[in-house]
Amino acid sequence: MPKKFVADFNVIQNTALNATNFLIKIQSDSKLPEILPGQFVNVEIKNSQEVFLRRPFSIFEVDDKLNTLSMIVKILGKGSERLTNIQVGDTLSLVYPLGKSFTKPFVSDKILLVGGGSGVAPMLFLAKESGLPREQVDIILGARTQADHINAQHYSEFATLHYSSEDGSLGEIGFVTQHSIFTEKLRTYDKVYACGPDGMMKAVAKQAKLAGVFCEVSLENLMACGFGVCLCCIEPTTKGNLCVCTDGPVFNINELKWQI
Ligand SMILES: Cc1cc2nc3c(=O)[nH]c(=O)nc-3n(C[C@H](O)[C@H](O)[C@H](O)COP(=O)(O)OP(=O)(O)OC[C@H]3O[C@@H](n4cnc5c(N)ncnc54)[C@H](O)[C@@H]3O)c2cc1C
Ligand code: FES
Repeated sequence: MPKKFVADFNVIQNTALNATNFLIKIQSDSKLPEILPGQFVNVEIKNSQEVFLRRPFSIFEVDDKLNTLSMIVKILGKGSERLTNIQVGDTLSLVYPLGKSFTKPFVSDKILLVGGGSGVAPMLFLAKESGLPREQVDIILGARTQADHINAQHYSEFATLHYSSEDGSLGEIGFVTQHSIFTEKLRTYDKVYACGPDGMMKAVAKQAKLAGVFCEVSLENLMACGFGVCLCCIEPTTKGNLCVCTDGPVFNINELKWQI
């Protein structure tokens, strides 16, 4: 198992991306280890009487020259809300890098990335780090409405961006799996990667399986320790019950005992 670290980072940016999502960028005084798309950090929520356990967040961007990393935090409950109130100059304690990354695509692969809700963070990181020319990388970003989307335009350097929204206010109307890429072109991809709400990932997995396309999903089960000790993140798989925090969060869909 690759080495994990517990370290304090300095907060150097906290920017609202829309009403509920915040970009938090932090910097380490030490050289960062290798960090790959799909891996996550477990963050201590300081000065809270109610939040005792660390909270897991996907790694969104890494700069190994400046020793910075970023995450996109969506306000869901007390922990994430408290985190989004953090100030530049504060410190944040992290256990990192946790979990396994997505399978790196082959140089000839054409890949489809699908991100919904807070699942867009690891997908954009993967788009940037895939090592493929942008013509071989499509990404569908899905949300309820245009206001729920974050601005990801600068990622068009790494991938062709497609949008969907449930009300049609940005991109194609409906769920990501109703996007014309799914209905018309899914079989043209070598690999599909997805992260988002459970329902979205199950729908993506079902369609990829029907199309016979390799597919990995990044699960967001509830977690506590983040390194395989508490067993609260168990997922039933073809290899038995596995910890999402150490055996995942990325799984091939054929390993998951989902009813798909
Ligand atoms: C590997 C991993 C990566 C993640 N990456 C991101 C990320 O990049 N950005 C981001 O915003 N969030 C991410 N999450 C989810 C994030 O960890 C939770 O939103 C956060 O822990 C909620 O804490 P809270 O104290 O705000 O809410 P809580 O008060 O703990 O929970 C509020 C409500 O949300 C539910 N809830 C909490 N966690 C989850 C979850 N994981 N899935 C579904 N429902 C949940 C609770 O059951 C409760 O109903 C990730 C989770 C995992 C496991
Ligand atoms: S979160 Fe503790 S074992 Fe996975």
